[in-house]
Amino acid sequence: MEILPIIVLYVLAMAVECSVGPSVPDCEYDGADAPSSITVREGWTFSLDCNSSGNPTPSLTWTHPGPGPSSPLTLSNIQKSSPRVSHTSPTILNVTAGTSSSATLTFNFIAYPRPSASDVTWERHDLQTDHWTVLFNTSDIAITLSQNSLQTNISFIDVKEINFGQYRVNVSNELGSITDTFFLKPEGVPSVPHNLKSSDRVTESSVNLTWISGFDGGHPQTFVVQFRDISTVIWKKEDVETGHTNHTLFNLKPGTTYEVKVTARNSLGNSASSDTITLTTLSVIEDHTETSPNTVGGAIGGAIGAIAAVVIVVVILRRKYFLHRNASILKNTYHGDNRSYNLHVNMPLNESSSKSQMYHAENVKKENPIYKYTRVKNPEETVL
Ligand SMILES: *[C@@H]1O[C@H](CO)[C@@H](O)[C@H](O)[C@H]1NC(C)=O
Ligand SMILES: *[C@@H]1O[C@H](CO)[C@@H](O)[C@H](O)[C@H]1NC(C)=O
Ligand SMILES: *[C@@H]1O[C@H](CO)[C@@H](O)[C@H](O)[C@H]1NC(C)=O
Ligand SMILES: *[C@@H]1O[C@H](CO)[C@@H](O)[C@H](O)[C@H]1NC(C)=O
Ligand SMILES: *[C@@H]1O[C@H](CO)[C@@H](O)[C@H](O)[C@H]1NC(C)=O
Ligand SMILES: *[C@@H]1O[C@H](CO)[C@@H](O)[C@H](O)[C@H]1NC(C)=O
Ligand SMILES: *[C@@H]1O[C@H](CO)[C@@H](O)[C@H](O)[C@H]1NC(C)=O
Repeated sequence: MEILPIIVLYVLAMAVECSVGPSVPDCEYDGADAPSSITVREGWTFSLDCNSSGNPTPSLTWTHPGPGPSSPLTLSNIQKSSPRVSHTSPTILNVTAGTSSSATLTFNFIAYPRPSASDVTWERHDLQTDHWTVLFNTSDIAITLSQNSLQTNISFIDVKEINFGQYRVNVSNELGSITDTFFLKPEGVPSVPHNLKSSDRVTESSVNLTWISGFDGGHPQTFVVQFRDISTVIWKKEDVETGHTNHTLFNLKPGTTYEVKVTARNSLGNSASSDTITLTTLSVIEDHTETSPNTVGGAIGGAIGAIAAVVIVVVILRRKYFLHRNASILKNTYHGDNRSYNLHVNMPLNESSSKSQMYHAENVKKENPIYKYTRVKNPEETVL
């Protein structure tokens, strides 16, 4: 018989005015109120049926073993499990710290049977020898394992230069082991952004840019796009919206070649600039040699003047009857011309495929062991 580890249930309700609830989820197991700890036999199927009341109707989400369809939760063929990474509390693999501050590397996992302290090792990579050195508690380093045996930390009480580097954790139980690598890095300016690209759909006056951000140096980073008409020496700057790794430059000159680069910035300073890319905006409609909207406007004005002149000549030379007829013909012809100036082609945006998280019933079946549930509203793992 096995004791179930944790299932966390939380309730999502829309923030609507006059909303009621949601109430704490009420769960049934085997036709009765579910106790806080459930024991099942290996190979059994286990099902937990929960509901919650409120207006609007709350939707239930299992945060563990993974976001998925709402109640009931059914786990079939419950098995023991070798250690594996917990999806509910993602692990931060790059941690930054200033010297003389403290820092903690945290590894969250799932395993059954639960690993004990001796099943957890933290190692440090020695760059000179390319070896991994097993670490133990010292006055500066504390290695801990949580009470529920699903989290281990290595904490540096007073970070020194020599503590920066690569670390590795290994968690094992009778069924297997898992390891993960971490970096403890000094705080600093962000790394250089890379892969700066313009979309294929450059227009006469705009271009969309994307890039990939580098390491943020331990502080939130934002980006600055710099661009220059290659016939000038002046770089112009535009701040990128916070959280975006893309930007659209508007009001560019048609048929003009630009150089573009991007820089990352955080509270400690700026990164170096990315590689510079070169791009050329489209020329305005090829049939017309004139390109600027003002010249086009002038041409239209000229055409109107010419039409007026013709009309005047007609007034002088012809009788009223013919004047009306000719003027309306000219007007229609001109209208047709005018429309060709405004012809635009709208291209669809090439949407990048969005990653969506899927719920895989198989994961539950095979890999998830056994769970204890708690009645909590917030999506943190809690043990009653
Ligand atoms: C759900 O709500 C109904 C009443 O609306 C109640 O009878 C039932 O016990 C509740 N709990 C579950 C787990 O279905
Ligand atoms: C290391 O120290 C921490 C607290 O400082 C303690 O909780 C833990 O049990 C110690 N680990 C070992 C392996 O002695
Ligand atoms: C690990 O560190 C975090 C904070 O960094 C703390 O909240 C958590 O309780 C620690 N866990 C253990 C097992 O010491
Ligand atoms: C992790 O620890 C287990 C058990 O000690 C061992 O068999 C395994 O080789 C280790 N893995 C790595 C990558 O060191
Ligand atoms: C650039 O992106 C914006 C949306 O951010 C879109 O409206 C515009 O059409 C795009 N332009 C090009 C040239 O792809
Ligand atoms: C973490 O640091 C490593 C080594 O510097 C780097 O290769 C990796 O891209 C970083 N990961 C993130 C998420 O910043
Ligand atoms: C720019 O980035 C933001 C945030 O990541 C995203 O929501 C938006 O769709 C992106 N725009 C384009 C044109 O790619």
